[in-house]
Amino acid sequence: MKIIGVVTSGGDAPGMNAAIRGVVRIANSKNIEVIGFERGWEGLLTNSFRRLAPRSVGGILHLGGTILHTSRCPEFKKDEAIKKAAETLALNNVEGLVVIGGDGSLHGALELSKKTNTLIMGVPASIDNDVFGTDETIGFDTAVNTAVNEIDKIRDTAVSLERIFIVEVMGRTRGFLALNVGITVGAEMILVPEVKYENEKIFRTIKESKEKGKRSAIIVAAEGIGDNRQLASEIEKATGSEVRLSVLGYTQRGGNPSARSRLLASLFADEAVELLSKGQGSRAVVLRNGKITSIELEESCKTDKLLDLGLLTLAKVLAT
Ligand code: ADP
Ligand code: F6P
Repeated sequence: MKIIGVVTSGGDAPGMNAAIRGVVRIANSKNIEVIGFERGWEGLLTNSFRRLAPRSVGGILHLGGTILHTSRCPEFKKDEAIKKAAETLALNNVEGLVVIGGDGSLHGALELSKKTNTLIMGVPASIDNDVFGTDETIGFDTAVNTAVNEIDKIRDTAVSLERIFIVEVMGRTRGFLALNVGITVGAEMILVPEVKYENEKIFRTIKESKEKGKRSAIIVAAEGIGDNRQLASEIEKATGSEVRLSVLGYTQRGGNPSARSRLLASLFADEAVELLSKGQGSRAVVLRNGKITSIELEESCKTDKLLDLGLLTLAKVLAT
């Protein structure tokens, strides 16, 4: 193998740069050249890339975002776009491509792998942690820590003014971030898109919590559960408590990657380049039971990662 391509796609995640650095330097140790496609799948449609050498990825290990930039690229779902990307890979003699991104990007990687001779390797990176087959994605740990640090501060004001806070965290369709954050901040309630919530139940829980002597509460809610502002005003009306909404927003996607996200990125990069150099493709590298391994891209894409709903029960017990 002489040339490997690398691309970051979809929502950025802290640790993507660490993964790019890893791919470049591990490939270099195997005498493989690396080119970085720019702005996600777009770069493969416009043949826009730059050569990456070990020195050109210096000083990025600790940086959030991605030096290659990223994009949402709706046209990549069309056959013509996949064909164009396959042509770009062939034109540049790219024998292996490392796709660093979330669930959507890995779906794109799978479709591309069906239409090209280039070996395709997925590297899960997303603050949503929604890729099937891996216990963790690059960036998830960082986002959890970012949200926890913010909510610890919100807890101070919630306790002081005896208020209820709904803290909205990211997660348009999945609740992994909300669940992990909720448990680690001791949230009185966690609302995730996977579980339909009933207003009455929420009101009851708040009232019971008050009766137990709790004068404030933190509700961690994923953005995808619905209109959190409206929910805040409904809780206020029903319980008589003062309720505030705090939307953490895009800070959760940025910032320096945590040690854990950097380590995972480096280990994933190593496995991805190693597999490609051995002639293996159409796979995604994953973390399973503490070990780095890989599964077929097809398996990762066709299966929905399950949220451990038992942890919602645990969170409830911990918050009593
Ligand atoms: P993430 O990778 O963070 O989950 P998205 O869901 O936005 O982010 O997906 C990133 C990109 O991957 C999309 O903008 C699109 O270009 C591509 N993609 C997603 N799903 C598919 C699919 N089924 N087929 C081809 N490309 C896809
Ligand atoms: O990166 C994942 C994610 O943060 C989701 O949780 C969220 O729904 C989405 O991206 C929002 O990002 P954008 O505004 O870039 O589409």
